[in-house]
Amino acid sequence: MRNSTRSQVDPFIVMDVMEAARQAEETGRHIIHMEVGQPSTGAPKGATEALKRALDSDALGYTVALGLPALRARIARLYGEWYNVDLNPERVVITPGSSGGFILAFTALFDSGDRVGIGAPGYPSYRQILKALGMVPVDLPASPENRYQPVPADFAGMDLAGLMVASPANPTGTMLDHASLGALIEAAQGQGASFISDEIYHGLEYEAKAVTALELSDDVYVINSFSKYFSMTGWRAGWLVVPEDHVRVLERIAQNMFICAPHASQVAALAAMDCTEELQANLAVYARNRALMLDGLPKAGFDKIAPPDGAFYIYADVSDLTQDSRAFAAEILDKAGVAVTPGLDFDPLRGATTLRFSYARATADIEEGLARLARFMAERG
Ligand SMILES: Cc1ncc(COP(=O)(O)O)c(C=O)c1O
Repeated sequence: MRNSTRSQVDPFIVMDVMEAARQAEETGRHIIHMEVGQPSTGAPKGATEALKRALDSDALGYTVALGLPALRARIARLYGEWYNVDLNPERVVITPGSSGGFILAFTALFDSGDRVGIGAPGYPSYRQILKALGMVPVDLPASPENRYQPVPADFAGMDLAGLMVASPANPTGTMLDHASLGALIEAAQGQGASFISDEIYHGLEYEAKAVTALELSDDVYVINSFSKYFSMTGWRAGWLVVPEDHVRVLERIAQNMFICAPHASQVAALAAMDCTEELQANLAVYARNRALMLDGLPKAGFDKIAPPDGAFYIYADVSDLTQDSRAFAAEILDKAGVAVTPGLDFDPLRGATTLRFSYARATADIEEGLARLARFMAERG
C-alpha cells in the first residue's frame, strides 16, 4: 500500500536523543536529562484526588464535544484571574492537549494549500501538522535581536492565510510584550491572516507576566494546555479560545474528529485549576533552576543565550563551538553524560549551530548537569 505524500513528516530529533540516553542508561551510565520538555512532577494532588472520587461515582463516558461545562467556565474564570479579561465560557473549547487543539484550529481556519507563517526557531510540530493537513508552513527566520520572535517586517506582503506565534516560546523561552504582540496581530489581520497564539507556557514566567492575545483582540485563536504549568502532560487535556462565531464550526469538527477530550482528564484538570499552592511550588523550583542555568551555562562556555523570560528552556547559539549540533549533542551525551537537544528540531537551517537546554527537572539534577557541562567544556578546551 502506498502512503500519502502529506504523511511524509519529519521525526522529532529529540526522540533520538532520548533513545540514545536510554541506551546509555541501560549500560549502567547515569544521565542528566536536559533534553526533555516536560515537568518531572506529576499532576497536582488535588487533581488525582478528584479523579479518584469520580472513578467511584461516575461512568466517565463521552462528554459533550466542547468539553465539560464546569471546566469551560473555570477556564473562562482563569482569564479574569490571570489577565483581567472577561471571557465568555462559550468561547472555550476543550481539546485533547494543545496538539489536538492545533489540528482543530488548523482545520477550522485553513484550506489545503494555504500558507501559514511560523517563527523559526519554533515548536517543530506546527510545521509537521500543517504539512500533514495539506497546508504549507512558511518559516519566518527570527533574529536574536528580536528575541527570536517574528516581527511584522518578516511577513510583510507574504499574503499568508495565517500566522502562528508562541509566547513564552519553545525552544527559546522568550516572550512577546503587549506592544510586540499587538503589532503582530495588527499586521496579520491587515493582510487577512488568521492569528493563532500558542500560550501553553503561560503561568511559567519569571519576571514579567505573559500577555494573552485576548487582551488585544477577540478575533484570534488562543491555544493552551494543562501540560506545562498544570504539570499534566500525559493526561492530554488542553483548550482553545475562539471567536464566538467559530464555536459551532469547532464543535462540529471536534464531534467528528475526537468526540471529546478524555473525560477523566477533564475531571482532573478542573480540580488542578485550584491547586495553586502546589503549582506555584513547582514554579519556584523552575525559577531556582533558571537562576542556576543563567549563572552556570555562561561559565561553562555557553554564553550566547536568548533571554529566557518563561517556559523552562534556554536556547544557546553554539556556532563558535560546532557547525553540527546533532554531533555536538551526541558528544555531550557521550562524554558529559548530559542529554541536550540539537536546535535542528526547531530551526531546520540555523539549528545546526544551536542547542536547547531544558531545566524542567529537579534542582539537584540541574546542579549536577551544570557541573558536568563545565568539566566537559574545560576538557574540550
Ligand atoms: C510550544 C508548544 N506547544 C504545544 C506543545 C504540545 O503540548 P500538548 O499537546 O501536551 O498540550 C508543546 C509541547 O512541548 C510546546 O512546546
